[in-house]
Amino acid sequence: MESAIERVLITREELERHVARIGAQISEDYAGKDPIFVGVLKGCFIFMADLMRHVTINCSMDFMAVSSYSGTNSTGAVKINKDLSEDIGGRHIILVEDILDSGVTLNYLKNYLQVREPASIAVATLMDKPARRKADIYADYSGFEVPDAFVVGYGLDYNERYRNLPYIGVLKPEIYE
Ligand code: IMP
Ligand code: MG
Repeated sequence: MESAIERVLITREELERHVARIGAQISEDYAGKDPIFVGVLKGCFIFMADLMRHVTINCSMDFMAVSSYSGTNSTGAVKINKDLSEDIGGRHIILVEDILDSGVTLNYLKNYLQVREPASIAVATLMDKPARRKADIYADYSGFEVPDAFVVGYGLDYNERYRNLPYIGVLKPEIYE
């Protein structure tokens, strides 16, 4: 598996440090607000699991599953495969994403959830790739700004592989060329 990795972009230690920082910041900003963390599956699962252990306030968690991606290029189309099980009317929502790339997925999700009249919607992303942004969307909380390279590990995949790498690595271009 690791022979597919060109280089390590973010080490386990850096991940741990920055995820802790975001958890502490959210705990401060949302004290007394009882937010709902909404993880966007599948890519969020490791980040969210680690993040939640650094959140020290009352909160709940829910998940959505969307697909918008095939291989290394966003198709631009977003499909909801699993919707929320909690009612979000009047609640503070924090969307948890693995990576904000074109922004098409999150922009769609934000608009989709807005209709249910939550009190607020914020975005927490592990990584931000601003060079590729197409939609007018930004992260309220971001772990790392990353260059325009295809990255895998710590929940992120290439065709469902490499999610289990404990760090973020740049995939060798020959894997997807
Ligand atoms: P967007 O709609 O273009 O912002 O795409 C968001 C989704 O595409 C993310 O949640 C990821 O699942 C996937 N994605 C974007 N860039 C990468 C990458 O470098 N590696 C793995 N998945 C990626
Ligand atoms: Mg993906």
